[in-house]
Amino acid sequence: MRQSPLVVVANRLPIDDSVAPDGACEWRRSPGGLVSALHPLLRHTPATWVGWAGGTGPAPHLPEVDGVRMHTVPLTAEDLRDHYEGFANATLWPLYHDAVEQPEYHRRWWDAYQRVNQRFAEAAAEVAEPGALVWVQDYHLQLVPGLLRALRPDLRIGFFLHAPFPPPELFMQLPRRVELLRGMLGADLIGFQRPQAAHNFAQLVTKVLGLPATDRRIGVGGRVVRIGAFPVSIDTAEMAALAARPEVADRARRLRRDLGNPEHVILSVDRMDYTKGIEQRLKAYSELLASGDVKVRDTVLIQVAVPSRERVGQYQILRERVEREVGRINGEFGRVGEPAIHYLTQTFDRAELAALYRIADVMAVTPLRDGMNLVAKEYVAARVDDTGALLLSEFAGAATELSQAFLVNPHDLEGLKQELLAALRAAPADVAARMRAMRKHLHRNDIHAWARSYLSALDESGSLLTRLAATD
Ligand code: G6P
Repeated sequence: MRQSPLVVVANRLPIDDSVAPDGACEWRRSPGGLVSALHPLLRHTPATWVGWAGGTGPAPHLPEVDGVRMHTVPLTAEDLRDHYEGFANATLWPLYHDAVEQPEYHRRWWDAYQRVNQRFAEAAAEVAEPGALVWVQDYHLQLVPGLLRALRPDLRIGFFLHAPFPPPELFMQLPRRVELLRGMLGADLIGFQRPQAAHNFAQLVTKVLGLPATDRRIGVGGRVVRIGAFPVSIDTAEMAALAARPEVADRARRLRRDLGNPEHVILSVDRMDYTKGIEQRLKAYSELLASGDVKVRDTVLIQVAVPSRERVGQYQILRERVEREVGRINGEFGRVGEPAIHYLTQTFDRAELAALYRIADVMAVTPLRDGMNLVAKEYVAARVDDTGALLLSEFAGAATELSQAFLVNPHDLEGLKQELLAALRAAPADVAARMRAMRKHLHRNDIHAWARSYLSALDESGSLLTRLAATD
């Protein structure tokens, strides 16, 4: 087995399978996200990415994809059900998002979580060279830092939680809270999206484990574990360049024309997830239509809801409810050829998304709770002419940074309606000033800056980064 000085461990591998023109299965680097951030670094190192390729059964052997070695961890049908759909997405996910849906606790799910985390830890131990940096991602793998340290005490281990980390009152519900905290503390550096999350974590380790902790450092036996906020971002320049492409601008013009050249276009793009506040947003919109504050004749709402975690019961129920509500609103307020809501449960490629961002006069991003929300950041990056209003939930991590957005509490229906109207009616100069400030922030704080700041904090001695600089 070839070993690497840098290993990323994440539930998913950063690749998609697609069918080549000759009918063969091809693997491509997935667009956006973590992989783009780390790609320049991963390719030069060369690094290994440990993850699941999707599906069940034996792990497919994958070649290097764009210079990054892929190391596949297999999941059985039972692992998929009890680890991914169960403990990760029906216990931790709702618990970490303010328990907006009831978290479920099952002992069988916990067994699967331990088993799968052990498998990921062993895979990482196998591919990491002596003294390597290993960066573990997200809530699916919270035990990996501890398990990996037991196997390979020579490694430098980082952990980053993309989801929110809840306040102690909520986390205390978890039957296996001690084990989860201990698992995370196997890392040398634990990164969160917001300072509040680091604070919650520090309080918990003191309360549950009796460890001395500040919002920056925790003493664990003879070791110090550092914690902190590292808000994740996007490739701002790449999205801006895509949005500025002439074919994207053309596509945007055609889309607007197909919509009947309305005065206002409102856009929402979400995974179909109960944390995203889709139902609250639809309710607010339907009340604005009913009161006549918004008219189908001159305002169009496009709701993109990409299907997600479709075998999990709570996701199925949400989809049914959203679709019933969209049907009701369109039935009640639509006109022939003019639906009140354009509802799309499809995945769009990056260029089509950029065109949608370009036609959105108002982008409504109103999750009930969200670790960061990169859609909000992508929208800002795509508004290359400084137009467009961002309506943003206070409960999205992005609100800490994008404070010039029209901020809203999505639980407050009246507030949501008022702020949506304020965003629709805002003076162009106000909108432009807000957008300019947010764009400036995102150009400085892009995903490259994020990866650099996290990795240089993890690599205290600077040895890996020095080595990389030498290969550049
Ligand atoms: C969130 C999580 C990610 C996850 C993504 C998509 O952003 O933080 O770890 O990959 O949702 O969800 P999925 O279940 O399809 O991986």
